[in-house]
Amino acid sequence: MAASMNPTAVEARTLVKQYGATRAVDGVSFQVGRGEIFGFLGANGAGKTTTLRMLCGLVSPTSGQALIDGFDIHGQPLEAKSRLGYLDEEPFVHPHLTGREFLEYIADLYRMPRGPERQRRMERLLRLFELADRDGELISAYSHGMRQKIGLASLLIREPSVLLLDEPTNGLDPRSARLVKDLLEELAARGTAVLLSTHILEVAQALCRRIAIIDRGHIVATGTMDELRAQAGSEHASLEDLFLKLTAGPESRELIERLLAPNS
Ligand SMILES: Nc1ncnc2c1ncn2[C@@H]1O[C@H](COP(=O)(O)OP(=O)(O)OP(=O)(O)O)[C@@H](O)[C@H]1O
Ligand SMILES: [Mg+2]
Repeated sequence: MAASMNPTAVEARTLVKQYGATRAVDGVSFQVGRGEIFGFLGANGAGKTTTLRMLCGLVSPTSGQALIDGFDIHGQPLEAKSRLGYLDEEPFVHPHLTGREFLEYIADLYRMPRGPERQRRMERLLRLFELADRDGELISAYSHGMRQKIGLASLLIREPSVLLLDEPTNGLDPRSARLVKDLLEELAARGTAVLLSTHILEVAQALCRRIAIIDRGHIVATGTMDELRAQAGSEHASLEDLFLKLTAGPESRELIERLLAPNS
């Protein structure tokens, strides 16, 4: 079957990652369709980054399979990776290149033909992310948010059909975060599949058609907001309520009281 006919853009099949005694990811499965924005939520250390790194081929799974547009990321890496744009939790952006040089470097790496089309795309991205007047400066002189934006621009210049984004709005100011949200919506409307992790629940609620909540390596709920509410048995719950209900951990109020209790 031609993989390009496959409506499933990302598939995690029972992914497991063992680090020594830690089972960071313990049998995670889900699918993301073309044109869908899928949110991946979970507490610190729950396994989001490890899952995303397995899906993009940066980390090899202990067992299970990761498919991009039907291509196994380890079995058919070139086919899978050519369709994929991955933004790491700590995006790699070359400090010794200028913003513009970095985009040129990535475009060359992915063998995008040089010419007016590539140039146009680069100018548009630099303008969109408000980096056009800083494009001649070394990335080492960029602020955190500017690095995040040039990292995003380096994915988007290739126009991948699948985006895997680990905390894409991390460190962005409200205006830039809105820009990224609007951009992802527009890309999804044009058929791009987007899988993003975020701790900002309002981003997830506003943007994601479906959400998966991961807790200590396991997916504890997947679905639309309504489906998550049904799974948690709370009809009117906010995403924050659902998140706190579905992920483990003692009540913070109890911990704070213990912390502040007079010595006994
Ligand atoms: N390279 C590694 N070696 C050993 N343990 C690791 C490694 N990478 C991740 N882990 C462990 O795997 C678990 C899941 O980590 P992961 O980074 O996937 O969490 P996360 O959900 O992305 O958390 P956060 O919200 O803090 O980014 C944690 O217990 C972490 O310490
Ligand atoms: Mg992470």
